[in-house]
This record gives sequence, structure tokens and C-alpha cells, in this order.
Amino acid sequence: MERSTFTDAKSKLEYHPQTVERLLNNEPVIPISMEVDLSYFCGDQCTFCHFSYTHQKPVRTDALLPILEKVFMPPKLADEVLRKMNEAGVKSIVFSGGGEPTDSPFALEIFKMAKSYNLELGMYTRGFNLKGELGEFVANNFEWVVVSLDVTNPEEHKLIKGTNGKIFLEKLENIHNFLKIPNRHANISVSAMVDTGHLENVPPYPEQQDLFGTDATQVTKLERDMLWLLGLGADEVQIRPIIDTGSYKEQRESHQMKGMAFMTDKQIWQEHYSWIPKVVSILERYNSLAGLNTSIDKFHQVYEGESGEETCYGMVISAGLVASDGKVYKCVNTRSIPEKIIGDLKTQSMEEIFLSESLDRSIDSFCRVGCRGCKVNEVFNRLSHSETVFLSPRQGVKHPNFI
Ligand SMILES: C[S@@+](CC[C@H](N)C(=O)[O-])C[C@H]1O[C@@H](n2cnc3c(N)ncnc32)[C@H](O)[C@@H]1O
Ligand code: SF4
Repeated sequence: MERSTFTDAKSKLEYHPQTVERLLNNEPVIPISMEVDLSYFCGDQCTFCHFSYTHQKPVRTDALLPILEKVFMPPKLADEVLRKMNEAGVKSIVFSGGGEPTDSPFALEIFKMAKSYNLELGMYTRGFNLKGELGEFVANNFEWVVVSLDVTNPEEHKLIKGTNGKIFLEKLENIHNFLKIPNRHANISVSAMVDTGHLENVPPYPEQQDLFGTDATQVTKLERDMLWLLGLGADEVQIRPIIDTGSYKEQRESHQMKGMAFMTDKQIWQEHYSWIPKVVSILERYNSLAGLNTSIDKFHQVYEGESGEETCYGMVISAGLVASDGKVYKCVNTRSIPEKIIGDLKTQSMEEIFLSESLDRSIDSFCRVGCRGCKVNEVFNRLSHSETVFLSPRQGVKHPNFI
């Protein structure tokens, strides 16, 4: 199945030359792809989850009933949102969160609607509900699904995901059954978020002796987990960095308190992420393994931090977010930040929101530092200063026809 590397946004730009050209000419565009949040509830509680602040408590679904429509996108609103996206020319949507999309009691109904509007579909999910009718619908109608498995044994599931090992085993069973669905259309990846803890040494699993050699008593957790995930036989394994969950801010404040103000933010940032180059050097050794997507670019992006660019192109191409109440946010990483609402699909059209002269495309202090080094913006920045000519010559580009 040739539909991998969907984490590499910059490599997809070449498929959309018209949109690229419009943006280079400072013309507004309708996003090619958008994220839609179906849920602000999640049955897991990952220690690293950077969107846990959006999650509604209590976590018992029956207790949520009285506030159901606040927590989950109602089907009537979903229909309006999806219709408007389709009419405006959005090509694809990613269900993610926020919370867990499939924990919405309306998930399957809304997936069917999205399909009927001819949108291509992808999803990040914790994988627990990827079974039965919902699992089959996803397998037959989505382009891809990423199961954010992250851990490789029941004990770690309890520790990192906050829910018991039985849930981990059920997720594994769902993945195995999904892989067996005849004529499955959707590509399925399993992903693992990594950080400094993955550099620790652990014994390999007994079944890995052939991979690491019989005398290998200790391997990094990164290698043990990565190879264990590959053994599941999914179409792809994604390894991605855990990014800023607030600790960077705390670290900066503590440096300032200790009078270490002479350190630049970049130094503090890279000290905080000093594990990244070490992880990358291990990933590079495994990079050519079939089915492994190590997102090395993403690790570099986080480590490098700010690129100094001022305009975000990523948000209009693929990152605009529709929240479960129909509000549209500039970017997935500004979920729930009131200042970053750019419109409301309950009352406005996609064109009113995205083709508006006043659409805020600035990279500002709300943007996460690790996101400000985005490779999509780097490509645009290069193109806007280069003599590359797209579909028509751009003003100011000299001698475009001398080859
Ligand atoms: C927030 S989750 C929402 C969808 C779904 N519940 C899931 O876990 O896939 C979307 C993706 O963000 C990732 N994620 C969560 N916290 C993160 C962090 N601190 N840094 C980077 N990615 C993170 C998750 O692993 C998941 O793949
Ligand atoms: S499963 Fe997804 S939404 Fe839920 S806590 Fe984990 S990363 Fe966050």
C-alpha cells in the first residue's frame, strides 16, 4: 500500500501547484485538508498528551450525557460543517483531537456523512473502538488511520496511558483484526511518541533475541519498542517526538530565577531537547527498514525551534481546525485559545472565513516554538525568494525563459 509518509507535509506540496502559486502571490486559498474535532473526551489519559487541557471530566460517558452536545460534535452541526467544506473545495479531513474521535457516540454516523460528501478521510485514534461496524467502515472508506499505540506492554499502558493493560490487549486485537479485513482500503499505521525515556536501556523482549543477538542483554527502549511495533505487521510504524507540554516554559522560568538570563532561549530550548540528536542518531541506523517512518525531519524541526519566519503557510494548506462547536481555529495547535478563533461554520461559509483579506496568517507568540520551524514554511520561504516560476511568471522574477 503506497500511501505512507503522511507526516511529511512538505513533500505533498508538489501535488498542489495551483495552491502553492496562489499563496506565493499572496492570494487567499481554501485549505486542501482540515482537521475536525469530534470529541473533547478521551477514555485514555496519556501523561504526555498536549491536548489534555481540552478534555472534559468526569470521564464516565453516562455522566457526560447532560452535556453531550458540548463535548461531542452533534451530527446536525457535522452535516453543515462537512457540506460547507465540500462545497468550498476542501479535499480531505483528518479526525483527531482534542479528545478521541471514536469515543464520540456519533462517530460512525459522522464518518458516513463525511464519506457521502466525497471527502477523503484520515484519522488519529487510540484504537480502542476500531472494531465492529466502525472498524469495518474505517477499513473500507478511509485512506489511512494511525493508531497511537505508544506503548508495547500492558504495564506501560497503565503507567503512560492511565488505563489498564486489558485495554492495551484489546487495542492489539483490534489492530490484528483490522489487518485481516478482506480488501481493506485504509492504510493502517501504529505510532509511538518518544522522548528522553526512550534512551534508557531495557532488556529486549524474549522473542527479539534473533533481532538483537543472543548475547544482547540490554538495548535502548527506542530500539526494543520500534522493532516490536514493526513486528505487528501494520502498513507503517511512525516514530514521532513528544513536544512541548509546558515544561519548556517552566525550564525557562527556572533558568531566569537562577539568574541564567545570559542564556538565549535557543540554548535553553536545545538543552531541554538535548535527547533529540541522540534519538535521531539511533533512528538513522534503522531508517531504511521497510515500513518504518521515523519522521527525522520532525525531530530536527522540534530541535531547531524557531526559523525566524513571520508567515504561516501550513495553516491554510492543511492545518485549519474545526472544533466540535463549529468554531474554526487558525491551527490545530491553537485549539481552544479564544484569541485564535478565525470564524464559525455555524454562521459563516468557508469562503467568508478563509478568503477574507483579514485572515491572520502571522506566526506569533501563540505558535509553539517547535512548530515555528515548520518545514512547509521553510519551503515557502525559499520559493518566495527564489526565481522558481510556477504556472505563470511572477512579478519581479527576471529572465524566466532563459534555460
Ligand atoms: C492528541 S491525539 C488525539 C487523537 C487520538 N486520541 C490519538 O491519540 O490518536 C493526536 C495525536 O497527537 C499525539 N500527541 C499527543 N500528545 C503529544 C505531544 N505532547 N507531542 C506530540 N504529539 C502528541 C498523539 O500521540 C496522537 O498521535
Ligand atoms: S489517547 Fe489521544 S487524546 Fe487521549 S490522552 Fe492519549 S493522546 Fe490524548
